[in-house]
Amino acid sequence: MSSSYNRKDHLYKKAKEEGYRSRAAYKLKEIQATHKIIAPNSSVLDVGAWPGGWTQVALEYVGPNGSVTAIDLQPLEPIDDPRCHLLSGDARDLEETLGHPGPSFDCVISDMSPKLTGIKEADQAGTVACAELALYVAQQLLKKGGNFVAKVFKGGEVEGFVKSARPMFNKLIRSELDSTRNSSNEFYVIGLGFKR
Ligand SMILES: C[S@@+](CC[C@H](N)C(=O)[O-])C[C@H]1O[C@@H](n2cnc3c(N)ncnc32)[C@H](O)[C@@H]1O
Repeated sequence: MSSSYNRKDHLYKKAKEEGYRSRAAYKLKEIQATHKIIAPNSSVLDVGAWPGGWTQVALEYVGPNGSVTAIDLQPLEPIDDPRCHLLSGDARDLEETLGHPGPSFDCVISDMSPKLTGIKEADQAGTVACAELALYVAQQLLKKGGNFVAKVFKGGEVEGFVKSARPMFNKLIRSELDSTRNSSNEFYVIGLGFKR
């Protein structure tokens, strides 16, 4: 961890002031501002959603006729909104939990990550495994033409992941965000136009 790490940085405080459950909310806002991955009236699947900052932001973008389904290993605090469906469990079992609905989401967003250990190689491999899981979920549940985002850390197996994801989308983008903490080496893999 960098000596400049400040858990309660300005985005942490802004999230508290604006009623978001996590500072991560601003990461999805930044991705959306540039890439418009979530369309009005669409259905979004938020994988690895706790405590729910991305879920809150996704609800803003889907509009009155959209929906957001969110899953995490940790139970999310309820969100009082009929457009929002919260599930508790492992994303590996999600297709079964949903009753094998087939491609039914317009966008799959994943900020999923393992419990970080501070050991660079282990954490890096863990985020790639989570991104691979998110892509597996997308292959089961993302509609043709849909959009995808997953978090990874630089290094290790990440190039293999990017290479395997690239042919599945019309466009694949790697994005480092201003809202990511300076001490983190995360970036997001954004897939536009799923080919199925
Ligand atoms: C960085 S947090 C997500 C923060 C969230 N995007 C937000 O805005 O509040 C990563 C989450 O991924 C979840 N996670 C990791 N592996 C998972 C799995 N196999 N299935 C479901 N959730 C998982 C963790 O429980 C953790 O809560």
